[in-house]
Amino acid sequence: MRDITYSTIIEPFRIHSVEPMRMTSRSERAERLAEAGRNLFGLHVDDVLIDLLTDSGTGAMSNEQWAAIQRGNEGYAGAPSWYRFRDSVRELFPFEHLLPTHQGRAAEKILFGVVGGPGKVVPNNTHFDTTRANVEFSGAEAVDLVIPEGHEPRNRHPFKGNLDVAALDQLLASRAPDVPLVMVTITNNSGGGQPVSLANLRATREVCDKYGKPLFLDACRFAENAWFIKTREEGYADKPVADIVRELAALADGMTMSAKKDPLGNIGGWLAMNDDALAEECRTMGILTEGFPTYGGLAGRDLDAIAVGLREAVDEDYLRYRIRSTSYLGEALEKAGVPVVVPFGGHAIFIDARELLPHLPPLQYPGHALACALYVEGGVRSCEIGTVMFGMGTDGVERPAPMDLVRLAIPRRTYTQSHIDYTIEVVTHVAKHAEEIGGLRMVTQPKRLRHFTATFEPV
Ligand code: F0G
Repeated sequence: MRDITYSTIIEPFRIHSVEPMRMTSRSERAERLAEAGRNLFGLHVDDVLIDLLTDSGTGAMSNEQWAAIQRGNEGYAGAPSWYRFRDSVRELFPFEHLLPTHQGRAAEKILFGVVGGPGKVVPNNTHFDTTRANVEFSGAEAVDLVIPEGHEPRNRHPFKGNLDVAALDQLLASRAPDVPLVMVTITNNSGGGQPVSLANLRATREVCDKYGKPLFLDACRFAENAWFIKTREEGYADKPVADIVRELAALADGMTMSAKKDPLGNIGGWLAMNDDALAEECRTMGILTEGFPTYGGLAGRDLDAIAVGLREAVDEDYLRYRIRSTSYLGEALEKAGVPVVVPFGGHAIFIDARELLPHLPPLQYPGHALACALYVEGGVRSCEIGTVMFGMGTDGVERPAPMDLVRLAIPRRTYTQSHIDYTIEVVTHVAKHAEEIGGLRMVTQPKRLRHFTATFEPV
């Protein structure tokens, strides 16, 4: 027979170790959710069946990563684990200075603690919630400048994470002295996991150069972004993903990273940059809050796991499976008539809750109400990305977020196709009965990052 390419894209791994899950009933789940103040972050994982709350730190490590953990060296300064981590990061992101941190937000806290402050303004395509919170905590203003298509759930623009370069130019023309750096999030998580094109990053770089501003990447999902460039941007089809990543890095002056996403770690992150003076300030801050710069709040074994994970993250068989398995969920939901953000992002499928629940005004939190229903009806835990997360202004006034989405984030290498088939069945069932879902009222909320701990009751 001839050598043919089969169309089924299979998981490019075998299961090596399993973690049993506990089955639960609908009434039990309704009780657990009420006890948690109707906040899905308050649930015990044993009460969750399919956990799509986040793709952050929830992936399965490979046998090679577990082996690397055994090689971990816990020397306080200059451990071999640090050198392996440094070399692996530099293969993709060859910035002069590399500061490991215990996760991405620690890198953000250090960076904006140094460059932020009252009167400053930080542009980004869309700030992730912790990025925004760290910018604002410093006293600075966080401005989102994604292209208009980025706010249209139905628009099939291939790079909906792109930064609005004209808007950036306009901001810099009027406020350049207040802008310490420009940030671009790849992929744009809060906007639907949408990628940024190399052409857009190049254009952003040009505007940064025009005003003499450094460009930083929030690069958590760099490998998925690079895969989208390879498969969607002209001229990249034959380029290895690792080369595309290096091309992305070469356009930037620095980066923040959560190693809990594409680098396939369960914990970790880093801050990297070329500027010596900035690095020195950040290193000092890092020593205060994270630890000595060769471990940065991590155990040596964590650094080793990330060193191996980074190489696995740019494996093209893995990325082909990863992106295909996410779109498998999206396509099935779209076919079932569930309004989903298109094109499908890399790490998650986003349901447009505002459209699915038109009877609920944004201030009754349609996204959160839908997420609660998915849990009660099927034990599927998702996450609202909408008015609960972004609705509270720095002025203390609550307003509808641009979109009310529910994110089904897919942990890396963790769930099988039948888990996803089950999820499709649950979401489709809930969507069919969407008009039965009632609104919510917030009962308690903290001053910042309210979505993590706010409590709710039915309206
Ligand atoms: N930037 C982006 C784009 C993120 O998605 C995250 C985390 C961070 C920064 C912060 O990294 O968690 O290591 O401190 N996102 C997770 C999520 C929590 O669920 O999307 P961290």
